[in-house]
Amino acid sequence: VTAEKAGYDHFMLKEIFEQPKAIRDTLAGRIKDGVVDLAQDISFTEEDLKGIDKIHFVACGTAYHAGLMGKSVVEKLVRIPVEVDVASEYRYRDPIITPSTLVVVVSQSGETADTLAALREAKKAGAKVLGITNVVGSSVSREADQVLMTWAGPEIAVASTKAYTSQLIAIYLFSLHLARVRGSLDAAELKAYTTALLNLPEQAQTILEEADAIRPFAEGIAKHDNLFFIGRGLDYAVVMEGSLKLKEISYIHSEAYAAGELKHGTLALIEDDIPVIALATQKAVFEKMVSNIIEVKARGAHVLGIGLQGDTELGKSVDETLTIPETLPLLTPVLAVIPLQLLSYYASVARGLNVDKPRNLAKSVTVE
Ligand code: G6P
Repeated sequence: VTAEKAGYDHFMLKEIFEQPKAIRDTLAGRIKDGVVDLAQDISFTEEDLKGIDKIHFVACGTAYHAGLMGKSVVEKLVRIPVEVDVASEYRYRDPIITPSTLVVVVSQSGETADTLAALREAKKAGAKVLGITNVVGSSVSREADQVLMTWAGPEIAVASTKAYTSQLIAIYLFSLHLARVRGSLDAAELKAYTTALLNLPEQAQTILEEADAIRPFAEGIAKHDNLFFIGRGLDYAVVMEGSLKLKEISYIHSEAYAAGELKHGTLALIEDDIPVIALATQKAVFEKMVSNIIEVKARGAHVLGIGLQGDTELGKSVDETLTIPETLPLLTPVLAVIPLQLLSYYASVARGLNVDKPRNLAKSVTVE
């Protein structure tokens, strides 16, 4: 068992540290001369891709959070309207699906019962279905019209880490492929995105080299039973994943909030000493985030701010700061989630819990 974990205490930590490789492997062979080329992976025709008038991301759990990020990315890069649904809702809510709808089903295992049922509903309604999955030969890979594999390698820990970051990469690749075919980005923009994507493995590596820095904060929050995550824009999608991770393996209750929405209810729960993790990597809404941080600080919160390297502002309004390397704003989630994964991991360890096999949860939920 020790050998399988390659010297790490838990599979989850091993898998967190495998992310640079998972990202690199998922990118491999799919970028040529500054352009995303998915010809080896998917054979939707240019006509098919040009005819898409809406996209639905459908998934469960962590994969659903990848879909939430996908909405922002596709809408920004391709200007096609996107909806995101949890599969157990989608399958029963009679969604509006036509032959020009693309349904993107995201599933690490490719076997999640609700996700498969949603895939089948979408096909029955005549949609085109793209599967994003990590398991070759899985039901999703067999039943989707087209498949874009993530190459994260086997994920053993119940809490998903490297599969999530690989799903984000697959979504960027598909969005850039669509953007090229539909002409929504020019060559220089495509080149800027592909260059930044190829830098992500090395940037992820630099975060992992500083992993220990997050340990003291994790040990601090391990003493609490409640905390908040806040973020805006893409950071909001990332904190939802960070909050899920923490709940899954540390059993600490947390809520992820769109920072601007706090004042409409949640602020009532902010009291002395409650930890708030504020993700502030999106420059376009940075000032707004700082205002929200000041709001929670004024009510006694203890704030961990996670921002970009070189940012000298965030540190002035928070109690503690962590930074991540800068990349293009849309790509930041890949890096921003890593400190949140580590935070959950170390909090679970500090509480003496079974990190890799949390109570009540299964790696793959193959029954409804
Ligand atoms: C289970 C796992 C989650 C996972 C979800 C979806 O609930 O515990 O970690 O995100 O299923 O799994 P999938 O294999 O479809 O991505």
